[in-house]
Amino acid sequence: MKQFQIVQDKEIMAEVAANYIFSAFQKSQKFILGVATGSTPKKVYEVLAKKFRETSADLSKMFCVQLDEYLGLGLKDSRSFAAYIQKYIVKPWGLKKSQILFWDGDCQNPAGEVDRFNSILSHLGGIDCQILGLGLNGHIGFNEPGSLKESRCREVVLTQETLQNNKEDLAGGKIPTDALTMGIADILKTKNILLLVSGNHKQKSFERFLKEEPSPQFPATFLKGHADLVVMVDKSALSDSR
Ligand code: GLP
Repeated sequence: MKQFQIVQDKEIMAEVAANYIFSAFQKSQKFILGVATGSTPKKVYEVLAKKFRETSADLSKMFCVQLDEYLGLGLKDSRSFAAYIQKYIVKPWGLKKSQILFWDGDCQNPAGEVDRFNSILSHLGGIDCQILGLGLNGHIGFNEPGSLKESRCREVVLTQETLQNNKEDLAGGKIPTDALTMGIADILKTKNILLLVSGNHKQKSFERFLKEEPSPQFPATFLKGHADLVVMVDKSALSDSR
């Protein structure tokens, strides 16, 4: 782990994380950003949009890679992560669709979709910064408990726990059972990882992340072996025992 930063709350986290990403973006000639969805990074994307606007940033050098997706949910389904990226990143930042590597959740052939995604990912030459949230059961992307350190982009079966935790976001249509995700090995290959943890519902999970040895039982623990991992946590996600 390179850096461990405790911030006051989610708002400050958004500012600090956005500054961090913005500064890395400014220094690079081409910037490949791995984007997680979920509630944690929403505000980060919003603050970044403001920064890009105010500085008239040259976003032609930006390319984003979608971390994971529900199988069966395409871009047109508002519950999909692709729709989230469209709403919170593509539109407000003013990116072209060609600047995003989307998962096609609506594909008919998941194995073929994994091959397509993998082949584009390997041609990109490495993600510069991967933003991650922490799943309550330790998942990162959709690498659920049991995922190996060597795991690659693939189709996964979602746990009941994750489906239960994400049920509000999935309301209004057929509930997916599977997902497509970058693997742990793909995530660990990225140059820099920014793990964002916010909210008191994350206390137990964050405690496990800190205390447990790297293992498939709590996949986020594998991140601790990455040389350029930055962990940002807000005070509400820290348990009283610390
Ligand atoms: C979800 C997604 C992840 C996300 C994580 C945390 O299930 N698969 O991409 O990062 O869980 O989500 P949140 O930020 O809403 O807590």
